[in-house]
Amino acid sequence: MIPYEVIKKKRDGKKLNKEEIEFMVMGYVNGEIPDYQMAALLMAIFFQHLDDEERATLTEIMAKSGDMIDLSDIGHKIVDKHSSGGVGDKTTLVVAPMVASLGVPIAKMSGRALGHTGGTIDKLESIPGFETSLSLEKFKENVRRYGIAIAGQTANLAPADKKIYALRDTTATVDEISLISASIMSKKLAGGADAFVLDVKAGSGAFMKTVEDATELAKAMVSIGKAHKKDTVALVTNMEEPLGKFVGNSLEVLEAIETLKGNYDEKFFELCLELSSYMVELSGKMDREKAKEELLKNIENGRALEKFRDLVKAQGGDERVVDDPESILPISEKTFDVKSTKSGFVKNIDTEEIGVASILLGAGRIKKGDKIDHSVGIKILKKIGDKVEKGETIAVIYYSERSNLDDAAKKILNAYEIGSEQTEKLPMIYEVIR
Ligand code: URA
Repeated sequence: MIPYEVIKKKRDGKKLNKEEIEFMVMGYVNGEIPDYQMAALLMAIFFQHLDDEERATLTEIMAKSGDMIDLSDIGHKIVDKHSSGGVGDKTTLVVAPMVASLGVPIAKMSGRALGHTGGTIDKLESIPGFETSLSLEKFKENVRRYGIAIAGQTANLAPADKKIYALRDTTATVDEISLISASIMSKKLAGGADAFVLDVKAGSGAFMKTVEDATELAKAMVSIGKAHKKDTVALVTNMEEPLGKFVGNSLEVLEAIETLKGNYDEKFFELCLELSSYMVELSGKMDREKAKEELLKNIENGRALEKFRDLVKAQGGDERVVDDPESILPISEKTFDVKSTKSGFVKNIDTEEIGVASILLGAGRIKKGDKIDHSVGIKILKKIGDKVEKGETIAVIYYSERSNLDDAAKKILNAYEIGSEQTEKLPMIYEVIR
């Protein structure tokens, strides 16, 4: 077999078989196939796509290119959750302890910020002392002992995806559904869980800008899960505005802790409750309705919050963060109010721009390896449909460096579209795909 033949076959819209996909992917990982031939194949896939079987095969080959984590010795069905990425998405920080508080073990590998979206691992590292790189043994021991562990992905998790993703990033081949679904699901499969709940975001702050595209991605991932005999549910959810009240690492941890104490943004909590209840159901513990009741009880009686404390303690973090987050978390004292220049109603928020503003402040990375400033971020005071007066504060910036402030403030102001008529509030959950 030669790469030329495989590239030509896909270029002409034909289906690739397992040997051809494996030849290209593993050849690329081993350095036998150069960047330009892999890039050509990726571009052919970008235009011709892959069918369900090709996607499942690509996923499997990328997953098996590195460590396949075995969690079977935990002795319980493990359900993982994945978000396709959004702005202000601190859902894992709430959902994981909620689910674990019902005795459903959480063994979660999470990522760092990607593009304009935040990452759970960066957020958790706002907590002084919190260790996110755990050995596999320690990770499993914590799951057994405390019922919860959240760690960064091991270096050798789906290395083929890592190498191909970097090439896609520089060859304009990221945003294709076959490639995205295989990329995400390869890491999920290698992570060793038995079932998955996927939060596929749709809207201006997501990678998928429309509900249609997000639904297509959700279906592709559910189909990959099914092909690998993993129970998979995908929720297509609203990312037309930042999730909850805060964007930025410490601020989002603060919001997660407040949520677990019962002081929550209604829509954000609705999403957490839905995702948690699906996770509990897939674990086989109880049905979804019963799970919702029990999860709500564990917010009221503080058990979900105590699970968060267990998580922090078990991973070396300062557990005082649970009782007094505002003094323990690094949160900048320097704030700036972004004020509306118009009266009316919030019609739209370009949420990606809010994410970019938070990166400018230092909450994300401008280039690979940049250090994150955990103390900065944005408090969102106005959401779609809210009334706003000229001169009223729509967002508060928490900043460290004055030099970044003006650009970030401008971006936030420009992200808001104010109209004269009230826009209807959007639903939190658009669709559920099983
Ligand atoms: N996240 C991933 O892990 N892979 C993609 O291709 C896109 C988003």
